[in-house]
Amino acid sequence: MIRLDKFLTDMGCGTRSIIKNLVRKGKVSVNGEIIKKPEIKINEDEDVVLLDGEEIKYNRYEYFMLNKPDGYVSATTDRNEKTVLDLLKAEDRRKDLFPVGRLDKDTEGLLVISNDGEMAHKILSPKNHIAKTYYVKVNGRIENEHIEIFEKGIDIGEKNITKPGILKIIKSGDISEAELTIYEGKFHQVKRMFEAVGMKVVYLKRIKMGTLGLDETLKPGEYRRLTLEETEQLKG
Ligand code: URA
Repeated sequence: MIRLDKFLTDMGCGTRSIIKNLVRKGKVSVNGEIIKKPEIKINEDEDVVLLDGEEIKYNRYEYFMLNKPDGYVSATTDRNEKTVLDLLKAEDRRKDLFPVGRLDKDTEGLLVISNDGEMAHKILSPKNHIAKTYYVKVNGRIENEHIEIFEKGIDIGEKNITKPGILKIIKSGDISEAELTIYEGKFHQVKRMFEAVGMKVVYLKRIKMGTLGLDETLKPGEYRRLTLEETEQLKG
């Protein structure tokens, strides 16, 4: 059971105060009866709610795929910085959303935004070793020998060396390009792994998480809902 005004704000029908006004004006019915009290509790799964004659269905969970742009922090709020939630349109920005995991402020690419804590826990739990693949550009020459070095695990100054990383070289030159798949998520891990072999990451973009690949039609800053199939895959 949830409050009628929360039901409608969660579903992007307007801010709490707009919704309260609409309800008081008699624009909302529940099971065919006009309800003028926004605080009334309804059954979000069974009751039929109409706003201006249009049925509004309740979605308990939301799953968005964002192509995170440079310059946004992966947090729900921040005093000084723009957060990834600022990229959502007002009608999508329900209060319980959070980024599933973290990308550095200057990292781009795949970030899931959801309100499903259980799914997030599964994805983020170090025990589950979910694969994360990054496209990376570095200052320096990535050589074939680095493939083995990354595979053995790298000392990035933590208690243990990293778990094996799978390195695929795309281009080797003064600036090199590669894809790196890792199975854990230590702070700045990709940058620190390259730093440990004398290279500086100049561009980093996550392209895959588990089986979920970044939709390359999304420009940085754009997002879309996950399909049902993608959502099921994500939940595992
Ligand atoms: N590794 C990093 O160094 N930064 C990220 O944002 C993600 C992985």
